This record gives sequence, structure tokens and C-alpha cells, in this order.
Amino acid sequence: MGPRDFEFLKDFLQGRSGLVITPDKKYLIDTRLLPVVHSHGLKTIPDVIEILRCGENEILAVDVTEAMTTNESLFFRDDSPFDLFRQQILPMLLERRKDKRKFRIWCAACSSGQEPYSLAMILHQEQNRLAGWKAEIVATDISHDILERARKAIFTQFEVQRGLPVEMLLKHFVQDGDYWQLSDQIRNMVRFEYLNLLESIKSVGKFDVIFCRNVLIYFDLDTKRSVLEGLRSALVNDGALFLGGSESTMGICEDFIPVPDVRGVYRKTECIDSVAG
Ligand SMILES: C[S@@+](CC[C@H](N)C(=O)[O-])C[C@H]1O[C@@H](n2cnc3c(N)ncnc32)[C@H](O)[C@@H]1O
Repeated sequence: MGPRDFEFLKDFLQGRSGLVITPDKKYLIDTRLLPVVHSHGLKTIPDVIEILRCGENEILAVDVTEAMTTNESLFFRDDSPFDLFRQQILPMLLERRKDKRKFRIWCAACSSGQEPYSLAMILHQEQNRLAGWKAEIVATDISHDILERARKAIFTQFEVQRGLPVEMLLKHFVQDGDYWQLSDQIRNMVRFEYLNLLESIKSVGKFDVIFCRNVLIYFDLDTKRSVLEGLRSALVNDGALFLGGSESTMGICEDFIPVPDVRGVYRKTECIDSVAG
């Protein structure tokens, strides 16, 4: 692929999903786009780019955008955010929402579902305390393919070995050959929907807890700032925002401050004394 095609694809991806592709990541374009080339009956990546330039093949545009996303995820990723959710955020919600007896959690950029299902398993563990409560988990992603996988909730041996405690595996999954099927009870606790964080973030409504982990790392500064502003308006004043371990709001968005001593958890600056204390 020549420099002109690379520049076009870089701008195309940044405009569609926020993904920033640097020249040293050119190899990713080959490995991820060749299946799209073949599935559309084309011969080369420049053939794809020529069609994208015309702007008339939305199916190809969606397929290219989805193929370039990184969908790496695992159950209880990094442990500590889920420990904090279980030990501090959930008790806080049970106390502060005891009149309404309901709260909403949003997993933005949920990939294949391990993150929302980890939260659902935690809520299931607390089912006695949550009796009579409405706890909603909405999980969204830009990739239709990955959402379809997430809804099916069928995981490989490798995937269930990463981060999932063995007692939860045995309790909530049934083995089917090389795969593990998550129980309907946990699956039904999560609602999956398409959402592009660049476009429709303001339409999602309000949430008490937002997990938006390991997606901001792919964006440039302006995109991170505008997504964080969107998350701010989607989060209730005493809510908690969870970011990935290598992501931060510092120097990007003054609307959030970190919860002391817990990596990756933020609360709204305007409501400093509201969360975890
Ligand atoms: C690395 S995964 C993170 C999954 C999960 N949050 C975790 O931490 O394990 C990143 C996800 O972000 C999604 N994504 C990328 N750009 C997006 C956008 N503009 N809007 C919504 N989701 C996006 C990708 O499809 C991918 O599933």
C-alpha cells in the first residue's frame, strides 16, 4: 500500500471509530484487512481503498472499521476494579439508592462480553441483598460481529482460563466440547446494543457506574477529551467511572478526579465527596 492509500485509510478509520493508526502499525492493516478483501471478492487492499474513496459501499466501510478494532478482553480484567466495585461501589449503591431500589451500569466498548458478564456474576453473588432491586447492565460496542459473539456467550477454554475463578466457571458455565456456554441466568442480566462512542454517546441515558476500559488508548487526545465529556454527561453525579489500567483523565479532562489509591477509577470533580467515602 502506498503512502496516499495509507493516509486515506488512517483518516477514514479515525473518522469512523477514533482509531489512530501510526505507520509502525501498518502490518496490522495487512493481517486484519486481508479477510475483508477476500470476503468482498476483491484482490488487494488498494482495491478496498478505491471503493471506500467513492463512499458508496457502507457494508464494506463497516467491515473495514470492525476488522480494524482490537477486541482483546478477559473476565475480571486486572482484578482490582472488580474488587472495588464489589467492596465499595455496590455497597454505596445499595445505601444511596435504597429508596428507588434500582441502578444502571454501562459497559461502553464491551467487546466479547467478559466485562459485563463479570459484573453480572458479581451481582448474582449478591442476589440476596439485591432481592427486589432492578440492576440493569447495558453493554455496547461499535462492532456488530463482536456484539453477536457477546450475546451468544460461548467462550473457548483459553478465554475461560483467563481471569475467571474456577468456582465461577463451574457454577455459571456448561462445557460443550472445546467451548463453554454461559448460563442463561447470567446472560439475561446483560443487554447488548450497538453504540459508537464518537457518535451517539449523549443518547444512552444516565448511569450510576460506567466501565469504559481499554478503548481510549486507541484514540487521539481530542477524541479522548470528547468521549470523556460524553461519559461525564452520562454519569450521575455520585457515580463512578472505571477506565483501563493504562488510561487516565489527567491532563485531558478536568471533569473527573481519580479515587485515591485505586488505579483507573474516577468520580466527578463537581461531586468530590460522593464516591467511595
Ligand atoms: C480492547 S477492547 C476492550 C474490551 C473491554 N472493555 C476490556 O477492557 O476488556 C476495545 C473495544 O472497543 C471497541 N471500540 C473501538 N472503537 C470504538 C468506538 N468508537 N465506539 C465503541 N466501541 C469501540 C472495539 O470494538 C473493542 O471491542
